[in-house]
Amino acid sequence: MSQTIHTPVLLDAVMTYLAPQIRESYLDLTAGYGGHATAVLKSTKAPQAATLVDRDQTAIEALRELEASGARVIHASFEEASRLLVQQGEHFDLVLADLGVSSLHLNTASRGFAFSQDGPLDMRMDQRSELTAAIVVNTYGQADLEHILRTYGEEPRARAVATAIVEHRPISTTAELARVIARVLPKGSRAHPATRSFQAIRIAVNDELGQLERSIPLWLQLLNPKGRIAVISFHSLEDRIVKQAFAEVAGDRYDADFTQLAKRPVVADDHEKVTNPRARSAKLRVLQRK
Ligand SMILES: C[S@@+](CC[C@H](N)C(=O)[O-])C[C@H]1O[C@@H](n2cnc3c(N)ncnc32)[C@H](O)[C@@H]1O
Repeated sequence: MSQTIHTPVLLDAVMTYLAPQIRESYLDLTAGYGGHATAVLKSTKAPQAATLVDRDQTAIEALRELEASGARVIHASFEEASRLLVQQGEHFDLVLADLGVSSLHLNTASRGFAFSQDGPLDMRMDQRSELTAAIVVNTYGQADLEHILRTYGEEPRARAVATAIVEHRPISTTAELARVIARVLPKGSRAHPATRSFQAIRIAVNDELGQLERSIPLWLQLLNPKGRIAVISFHSLEDRIVKQAFAEVAGDRYDADFTQLAKRPVVADDHEKVTNPRARSAKLRVLQRK
């Protein structure tokens, strides 16, 4: 891809651990703007053996160039795409999932992901889905909202935030929601007080953890012998799911089907943390089928 609008996170580590070889097949479950895919395909030199998945229409348009070079592009959630690929009996040498939102999501006010810019309460990664942040914020019961804020945002003052949201309904924009939340939370930390709540609502709107939990077993089925899978997560809830799922199938036992290629999660070095803020919380885990 000639221009990358999204700087791929942990690119060197992904290339080191996936170690793509010429002609290997590649499944990118969150292809986004094609940053990782472009680098991997430079090594495999086999775009026709690549499948690139994303559920965001903007990402799909950005992947057209790779599609033109022979890659198959699937506009679907990674759960749907993985089910389809398993059904079709497909297998891959290299699998990558770089989870979460892209910088383009966060920087495009109209997508409604950002508290720092005013936009509609949307937060859908797939614009074809019905559930929006506006529906969660304006129609969910107070107890459900509190549960979402506590579980997906690890927001210690979930009850106060849920109460404030219910009292200020209807809330129609991201800036309005951020103001309502900020008013009931203490100031002081470096992050915006609405950070945790926005993360929580976004995870609920996109069923991010459910998708991940249901998809990892499918990803493992899709791996060829000696195939490698790399997953990059961005918060502890995601990382916990990946860590547990990988630990269940990998190990020193003679009958374990997989080996963990990195014993500890790989994180960004100080240089990458400064130059690419998204990398600050990134954790990479890698598994190889025996
Ligand atoms: C961090 S970006 C990926 C960036 C990409 N690795 C690159 O180098 O350009 C994450 C992408 O994953 C997509 N995504 C997140 N969850 C998804 C899911 N469950 N199914 C399909 N795509 C998903 C988002 O739409 C977004 O484009």
